[in-house]
Amino acid sequence: MSTSSSAIESVLVENRVFHPAEAAVKAARISGMESYNALCAAAEKDFTGFWAQLARDHVVWDKPFSKTLDESNAPFFKWFEDGELNASANCLDKHMGTPVEHKTAIIFEADDGAVTRVTFKELLAKVSQFANALKAQGIQKGDRVLIYMPMTIEGVVAMQACARIGATHSVVFGGFSAKALQDRIVDVGAVAVVTSNYQMRGGKELPLKSIVDEALSMGGCESIKSVLVFQRTPTACAMVAGRDKTFEEALAGQSTECPAVPVGAEHPLFILYTSGSTGKPKGVQHATGGYLLWAKLTMDWTFDVQPSDVFWCTADIGWITGHSYVAYGPLAAGVTQMVFEGVPTYPNAGRFWQRIERHKTTIFYTAPTAIRSLIKAAESDDKVHPKQSDLSSLRILGSVGEPINPEAWMWYHKHVGGERCPIVDTFWQTETGGHMITPLPGATPLVPGSCTLPLPGITAAIVDEAGHDMPNGAGGILVVKRPWPSMIRTIWGDPERFKKSYFPEELKGYYLAGDGAVRSADRGYFRITGRIDDVLNVSGHRMGTMEIESALVSKTDLVAEAAVVGRPDDLTGEAICAFVVLKRSRPTGDEAKAIAKELRDWVAKEIGPIAKPKDIRFGENLPKTRSGKIMRRLLRSIAKGEAITQDTSTLENPAILDQLGEKY
Ligand code: WTA
Repeated sequence: MSTSSSAIESVLVENRVFHPAEAAVKAARISGMESYNALCAAAEKDFTGFWAQLARDHVVWDKPFSKTLDESNAPFFKWFEDGELNASANCLDKHMGTPVEHKTAIIFEADDGAVTRVTFKELLAKVSQFANALKAQGIQKGDRVLIYMPMTIEGVVAMQACARIGATHSVVFGGFSAKALQDRIVDVGAVAVVTSNYQMRGGKELPLKSIVDEALSMGGCESIKSVLVFQRTPTACAMVAGRDKTFEEALAGQSTECPAVPVGAEHPLFILYTSGSTGKPKGVQHATGGYLLWAKLTMDWTFDVQPSDVFWCTADIGWITGHSYVAYGPLAAGVTQMVFEGVPTYPNAGRFWQRIERHKTTIFYTAPTAIRSLIKAAESDDKVHPKQSDLSSLRILGSVGEPINPEAWMWYHKHVGGERCPIVDTFWQTETGGHMITPLPGATPLVPGSCTLPLPGITAAIVDEAGHDMPNGAGGILVVKRPWPSMIRTIWGDPERFKKSYFPEELKGYYLAGDGAVRSADRGYFRITGRIDDVLNVSGHRMGTMEIESALVSKTDLVAEAAVVGRPDDLTGEAICAFVVLKRSRPTGDEAKAIAKELRDWVAKEIGPIAKPKDIRFGENLPKTRSGKIMRRLLRSIAKGEAITQDTSTLENPAILDQLGEKY
């Protein structure tokens, strides 16, 4: 890559530009900006024809579709509706009889470093056998199966097996609590849970099955007929007779062949819960056809995958990134991928770099939070610096989940990418199914901290609150003007909330992403400025402030009122800051410390450890207007430790500000 500086008069205040190397441009699928522009022009000229052609080229259809897009019931769009396909067949069966058949599909590395490999053919046999085991439990097309598994080959197998028989999976991240799990089981109406006795993380054995037991005992989970338990570690776990089966028991005698069931393109492939600004997490429903197309296509476009690549996406299958770029995309693309069970800091913070050297990773895709924490570790201990590992196999780096700050970008580029690997800063969301705005490795000049330009066919734009386009250089609301194949179809069980959250009337039918953004004056590059709603992004994990507030006030013996805001954090992007009014007098000193700990543990129990507030402040009250509305903007300033410069004349109780500013 070469560097050139350009005279950018933009709000980005970023004048470093990195152009793709000529050889990389030549070798790439989308080769140079002309090639990118030509695709964008093709999409503009014949929008549905553009998508129809891609869907024919990238997806294997059991029954071809005749209609590309149905907009008659907008915003409930339908894509390729009369076509039929199977997602698992598109990831596995299609490779049989091709050179991919005997290629390694997954290189699994366990927490302790043990490595297991499976070929595409072996994976097909495993998935088929597991699919037969699901059928033997009475699970049918359309049933929902909840998956609560660690990062393992078996986790991917469980997802693929559901897809194979047309069951809709709902994966819950292994860090969520029993309460959070129960909420999701009830909401999705799952008939079965696939889990593991334990999971291994950073040398520790952590329970999963007992959390499932606890969730199921909370009531409302009567829909669950069976629990299948993977024996990840030798430690025994309690089993309920008649309901629970080990994988071994469930798989015994099952054939390794199972025909993939063709489903309609709109059939729900999965429901994945994510946080919104109000109420409970929402079940984002994705359709089989459009989603699969996008998972496959973005592997080709964004990562420009080649047959010799070793792809590594570090995301957990419990998040959307682990769905699109672990469980589906790499398999559909026929590329070898690494699946890693452990954490980046165990046994030391050089683990990621050592993994890249060991498995000769060529494409590495991770989150800015991980990069920032590894920078910190490398700066304080030379032994875990990436320079200690041979990273010459790398050719493309990726970033996802939150804005990457230019300093972290530069470090990643220099110390991991050897100044040679393009960084694809991919902006997207659970709701979008796959990448939306991202550089292309063989085309887009890179600007640190910018996700650059939308993929061809993606009509991303920045508008004001009435839906009018904003000029470059002026910030606004990020929207997508026209539908795209992998978009969210609805919120499971709540179509009204879907309409209200994503297609508010004022915005002329545009999809509202929930992020603010600004385009640079010179190149029109997008930079995401963060969420504009009450959603926090902590270490790349989405958390609703309301969700955390509800968890706090559900501690009814102690908490009278709570308000949660985010504040910038160098390491985690944002940190959770909670302001709490107790039912007893305001605590100080050691008592405050002890109660804060109790509340943190409570939130971990209600939602999961990722939702624990970093900062808890106690007040006799919260800053409120005379009409009783909490003034969150003041709380945000207090959380940041800023002097209050806002107008406080509408504040009923100004003295409260000093009190909340105090740390115990
Ligand atoms: C944020 C993760 C800036 C954004 C795939 C979005 C990003 C939310 C980026 C979705 C990026 C994701 N640059 N911000 N490259 N990628 N975000 O649903 O706020 O877990 O709305 O999906 O993460 O988070 P989610």
